[in-house]
Amino acid sequence: MDTQQVHSKRSSLFLQSIKQNHNEALNVTSCFSFSLSDQLFQKGWEYFHSSFYYISSTEKTWQESRDDCVSRGANLMIIDSQEEQDFTRRFPKRMWIGLTDRAQEGTWRWVDGTLLQRSYWYSGEPNDEWGEEDCAEINYKDVENSWNDMPCDRQIHWICEKKMAP
Ligand code: BGC
Ligand code: CA
Repeated sequence: MDTQQVHSKRSSLFLQSIKQNHNEALNVTSCFSFSLSDQLFQKGWEYFHSSFYYISSTEKTWQESRDDCVSRGANLMIIDSQEEQDFTRRFPKRMWIGLTDRAQEGTWRWVDGTLLQRSYWYSGEPNDEWGEEDCAEINYKDVENSWNDMPCDRQIHWICEKKMAP
């Protein structure tokens, strides 16, 4: 082998090892997401349109509910499609969702920081009753527009969402 051949042999070995590492990384990633979704199915999460949802059986304040979701690798539910809003009607419970105006009264933001666009408030809501209602719940049963604003320190159920795809 001349110097040129040695160089090209070295670079092809180098490339081969990069590819191998890359494939190993891909394998690890796919094994991880497989076992993660597997675990979520087993733990009673509901799968719908590329997200897993957890409906609590106990009741907590909005902040405690949010913390609970975060500790499960999720967050309170963000409703950004008609399908997701319809999906919530399967669970006729009062549940916190990830929507609040406590940073600025009247400016409703989701827990990912985005501004509320399409909303599903029940008629007359949000009414900020007694000037004390800064967190949003799913409340009114069996209606499309089911949201209500409530005092954040009330204890109710909550719904977490873990997105599997962007
Ligand atoms: C009102 C809601 C309010 C709730 C508080 C209801 O009677 O219609 O706007 O958030 O009481 O518990
Ligand atoms: Ca209200």
